[in-house]
Amino acid sequence: MSGARERKARMSADLLPDVVLPRLATKWLGRPYVYEREVDSTNTRVAQLARDGGVHGTVMVADAQTCGRGRLRRQWHSPAGLNLYFSVLLRPGWKARNAPPLSLAAGVALAEAVEPWTQGPPELKWPNDLLAEGRKLAGILVEAVLDRETVQHVVLGVGLNVNQRQFPTLLAESAASLSLTSGRQLHRGEVLVAVLARLELWLDRLQQQGPQPVLDGWRRYAPWMGQLLKVQNGANELVGTALGLEPHGALRVRDDRGREHSVLSGDAFLVSDQDGTSC
Ligand code: BTN
Repeated sequence: MSGARERKARMSADLLPDVVLPRLATKWLGRPYVYEREVDSTNTRVAQLARDGGVHGTVMVADAQTCGRGRLRRQWHSPAGLNLYFSVLLRPGWKARNAPPLSLAAGVALAEAVEPWTQGPPELKWPNDLLAEGRKLAGILVEAVLDRETVQHVVLGVGLNVNQRQFPTLLAESAASLSLTSGRQLHRGEVLVAVLARLELWLDRLQQQGPQPVLDGWRRYAPWMGQLLKVQNGANELVGTALGLEPHGALRVRDDRGREHSVLSGDAFLVSDQDGTSC
C-alpha cells in the first residue's frame, strides 16, 4: 500500500466498531453502533432505519458523507478521514406538544464533551451551533417524525469538526476544528465516545427532570444572553435583546418598543459586532 493510502486507511480506522465499542461507556446510546465508510447523509440513512424498525439508541457514524445536510437546507461539508458525522435514532414516546428541547440538550452535551480540547469554554449559538473562538465547531440537525400527536421517532444528527485544519474558501473564515483549538491531531473514536457519554447523560436528564436543567446548562455556554441581537428567518428580521430560552427551546427577544417575541427558528447575530459575528 502507498504511504498516502496507508495513512488514509489508518485515519479512517479510528471509528471502526472494534475500536469504538470497547471504549464506549454508555448504557443504551450507541447500542447498536453502525459504522459506514461513506453515505449520502447519516440523517437520511437513520431515518430509513427508523422506518425499517430500527431501535432506540442506534448510532450511525460515517467516515464521509456525499450529501451531508445542515439546518435550513444548507449543505454540511463532510470530507473523509477528518471529522465526526453521526446520527442517533430516538424513540422517546413524547407527545408532540410536550416535546422537550432535544437540540438544546445535545448542544450542552457537545459543549461539555469538547471542552477538554478547546482553549476556554466553547459557546453555544442559538438555536444549535457550537462555536470556539467565534468559529463554528459543530452543528446539530434534529428531524422528528410525528404519528398523529405522538413523536414516532427523532433523528438527531451531529457534525463535529475534529481534525480538519483547512476548509473550503466559503468556510475558511467561519469554521473551527478541535485540532485547531487544541493544537494536536485527535483520535475521532475517543472524541465520539466522550460526546456519546455526555449525550446519554443529558438525554436521560431531560427525560427524568424535564427542560429546566438543560436550559440552565445551555445558559452557562451562552455568555451573549442579555445582549442585542439580530435574528434572521428568511426575509424576516428582528432586532432586540436576548432575554432567555423558553422551555421548548424558543428564544425570547425584547424589541426596542418593549414587545417580547418568542422566536422558534432562524439565525442569530450579535448586533454589537460590526462584522456581524454570530453570537
Ligand atoms: C447545521 O449546523 O446546520 C447542522 C449540521 C448537521 C450536520 C450533521 S453531519 C451528520 C448528520 N447527517 C447529516 O446529513 N447532517 C447531520
